[in-house]
Amino acid sequence: MRKPIIAGNWKMHKTVSEALELCERLDRAVQDTDAEVVVCPPFTALSAVCGLGMSKVKIGAQNLSTAESGAYTGEISPVMLVDVCCSYVIIGHSERRQLFGETDEMVNQKVQLALKHHLRPIVCVGETLEQRRADQTEAVVVSQTKAAFAGVSKERAPEIVVAYEPIWAIGTGETASAEDANAVIGTIRKTLAEIYDQETADQIRIQYGGSVKPSNIKELMAQPEIDGVLVGGASLDFDDFTAIVRYNE
Ligand code: 13P
Repeated sequence: MRKPIIAGNWKMHKTVSEALELCERLDRAVQDTDAEVVVCPPFTALSAVCGLGMSKVKIGAQNLSTAESGAYTGEISPVMLVDVCCSYVIIGHSERRQLFGETDEMVNQKVQLALKHHLRPIVCVGETLEQRRADQTEAVVVSQTKAAFAGVSKERAPEIVVAYEPIWAIGTGETASAEDANAVIGTIRKTLAEIYDQETADQIRIQYGGSVKPSNIKELMAQPEIDGVLVGGASLDFDDFTAIVRYNE
């Protein structure tokens, strides 16, 4: 049985004081939920948020370097993320792939480095609208998944969370239908079963992301293949994100 995981990707939003306020309220409001809850604030707020010592909500970063340390101006290493108490890190978000030139190879390097430091990667995969229209959705997610897991052992693979985020559904108000999302996530799981075996694939959690809201969370989470969600915009609002986390009440 896979434990549901609801994560908020704050992207480039919130000052330290705003982050503290939201996290304090959130940790109190979601104490008794079954799902694992993760927030991913910007780097500047991580240390302060870790200092809250939240008991339910876990903390993730939005990116990490491909290197452990060195002359890499502006980069953040896994050692630094572990030091401030991060347990998760988002890797290969489509905004990083599209706007900052992140390649499949870099995504794989980051996955390997995160695992080496016992940070759990949340690896994002997903197709553009053009690719969807050209019927390439399956091919894109299969190749991104294979690239991300390359060289990862069967024993460590279940530490990775995959987030299927169709790029055309991010921040647009458009959501993939729950059935479509479920089908693509089924394809990702089949790919993982081919790389490893069915038992391993059945342990790996796969989220959906893209315009997740309180109004569509129930339907998404009712799908057998969808193990959680990666929420952008709606994770910035206390009421919305709390409602999403408490989807089964
Ligand atoms: P939205 O929920 O704002 O569409 O963003 C999704 C996302 O990119 C989460 O990583």
